[in-house]
Amino acid sequence: MIISVRSLSYDELKRNLNHDDKIVIWSCDTCVKHCGIAGMEKMTALEDLLKEDGYTVLKKELVSESCQINLAKKHKAAHEDIFNESTAIILLTCEIGYQCVKTVFPKKKVIATAKTFGSGNFSNKKGPILTSPLPTTGLAPEPEGYTLTMLVEQFNLYPKFFDADKEPNPEKITITVDGKPVEVKKDANLLDELSANRIRIPHLCYDSSLGSIGACRMCLVKIEGKRGLVPSCCTQIEEGMIVTTEDEEITKLRKSILQMIIAECGDEIQQSRDIRYWMRRYKITENRFSLPKKDEIVDDSNEVLVKDPNRCILCGRCVRACANLSGQKVINFANRGSNTVTITGLNEPFASTDCAHCLACAHYCPTNAITPKSISKKISGYPFWTMITYPKKLARTT
Ligand code: FES
Repeated sequence: MIISVRSLSYDELKRNLNHDDKIVIWSCDTCVKHCGIAGMEKMTALEDLLKEDGYTVLKKELVSESCQINLAKKHKAAHEDIFNESTAIILLTCEIGYQCVKTVFPKKKVIATAKTFGSGNFSNKKGPILTSPLPTTGLAPEPEGYTLTMLVEQFNLYPKFFDADKEPNPEKITITVDGKPVEVKKDANLLDELSANRIRIPHLCYDSSLGSIGACRMCLVKIEGKRGLVPSCCTQIEEGMIVTTEDEEITKLRKSILQMIIAECGDEIQQSRDIRYWMRRYKITENRFSLPKKDEIVDDSNEVLVKDPNRCILCGRCVRACANLSGQKVINFANRGSNTVTITGLNEPFASTDCAHCLACAHYCPTNAITPKSISKKISGYPFWTMITYPKKLARTT
């Protein structure tokens, strides 16, 4: 993932705008979302702030591949009138996104809000970690990597996204997990807090940025005083909780769920990293269920995505990603019970829908039922990182 940190405060951003500017806000929904600078919620928060202050926002748009020139050009063509009318484009993206949009709209005022440091990975405990700094940052490679906090302090940048990220100081309490005391945030999501404490619970339908629906049942745990098994993804932490995350009964159930998924979706589903990991973890070598294997038509009508319903486990992540992150609501559930399926639009080909090609659905799908047709590592023949030349410092005065 690309590691970027916000470089402009809201006040500094406003100093780059005129009050009569017609603004388009553009953001992406891939790696930089984890750094807290991108995504639909951030765009909405910024739009609200700007509108409250009397600015005109014409449009906000989420594009996963804003860093790819061709896609930016395509969006320009699709929204020519809006972009013609706009006088300022605010980017909540990494600087690769900035470079590309600047190339496509050379005469517009394009405002970058982030500084990009290089590539890295995501740690459940520490968040995004910079492991391969760009030479232009002057940072020496660090075996442990650099956290966002370190970058923010060292480079005098901003840790939070405008006013949208205000976090109350959560109260910490101690609960018992598998016989050991564990410190967690009071009232927080149990699965999130277990993960934060490196207690790995299998989960297929849950993602902290999408919320919980308790569909896959892989995250079931036992909680003293509660009847049966409860999904940890839908459980709020309470004082004095005593949790069992693994025992014979839980293991058996998780194995059965995995075996049912494989029986229904076939061996191909094992190409999914998540499924493969949990199959190894639970030593699943054979399938004890014989269910009719799905035989659905693959939809590859979409320009950038392929939807293969045969691999779908109905976790609903794509549905929520499309609605909550992209705001498009192109993917939905249809029918009920064992006939439930995911459909696009009003059960029409993907290509006929309002899909914004943001790729949020593919990003969150745990089984590769929706995948991008190609993820190009090269842009216009140049290696990825050669695209970055830092934008001139914007009018930052504080
Ligand atoms: S992750 Fe909790 S039910 Fe799916």
